[in-house]
Amino acid sequence: MNLLLVITTLLLPLYGVEESISVQEYCHLIGTIDEVRQRVPTLNKFGSNYCFNTELTEAFLSYCKEAAKPFHVLEVGAAFGVKSAQIVQTGAILTVNDLDPRHLEIIRSTFQALTSRNSLFENTAFFSGNYLNTTLCPFDAILIESVIHFLTPDETLQMADKLYSDLKPGGRIFLIVSSPFLRFISEVHQERKTQNDLWPGYFPDPSVVHPLYVRLHKPYHFFDKETLSKVLIEAGFSIVEARYLPLPHHEYDMGLDGREGLMIIAEKS
Ligand SMILES: C[S@@+](CC[C@H](N)C(=O)[O-])C[C@H]1O[C@@H](n2cnc3c(N)ncnc32)[C@H](O)[C@@H]1O
Repeated sequence: MNLLLVITTLLLPLYGVEESISVQEYCHLIGTIDEVRQRVPTLNKFGSNYCFNTELTEAFLSYCKEAAKPFHVLEVGAAFGVKSAQIVQTGAILTVNDLDPRHLEIIRSTFQALTSRNSLFENTAFFSGNYLNTTLCPFDAILIESVIHFLTPDETLQMADKLYSDLKPGGRIFLIVSSPFLRFISEVHQERKTQNDLWPGYFPDPSVVHPLYVRLHKPYHFFDKETLSKVLIEAGFSIVEARYLPLPHHEYDMGLDGREGLMIIAEKS
């Protein structure tokens, strides 16, 4: 049986059969998984790379699969590339970015090792650094999951303009951020909203609300649907879909009522 497996692995690439690499398999290749929370912690303390697809990831993958090719996409803040590995397997041409060069190096070497099993891993472009400071050719679609909640209000405005200018007309962004519907945060956020605070979910240091949040990045920016939609609309986007969604495994610590994440799909007119 094992001999058959070895022969098949050696022969399949010769016959042009591409092997599919699952999220779980990729996660085991890149590092030590926090099995309870199903994530791999980043090396720079900017949260974790989730080892599961969110509803937004699934929507992005379907969008890529159905698109006419060539289809050029960008993933911003990819961490170790768990989503990137799924994206390349749709046949889209991927550019992948992360702030931390060590993350990018792990993606690069893992993709290189996977090319013998699936040639779609060959054509990815990589660049590390702060996405806000980059100059890029326009893309058909951009995925940016769990990155915008690390930005200050000024950087959030900058980010919306940057995403808009990096898209082709009709191009779409797919984003996820943390919502304010989390333990201890929701009360403060609600109170600030009633006082018409423009940035009701912004916390230069979230641990002042509760010690539970001491492990979060500083600053941390929780976004409600209205606040982030307004920023995107002012940058020129039209909102295709905006809704809260559960982020699995938050129930272990911060979860409140299944609205832990906010996903938005928006289009450049
Ligand atoms: C919480 S992880 C999200 C990883 C992945 N997108 C996911 O959803 O599983 C956030 C990642 O964004 C990166 N990041 C934060 N700010 C960034 C910026 N301004 N430009 C590029 N990457 C950034 C961090 O280095 C980190 O790897």
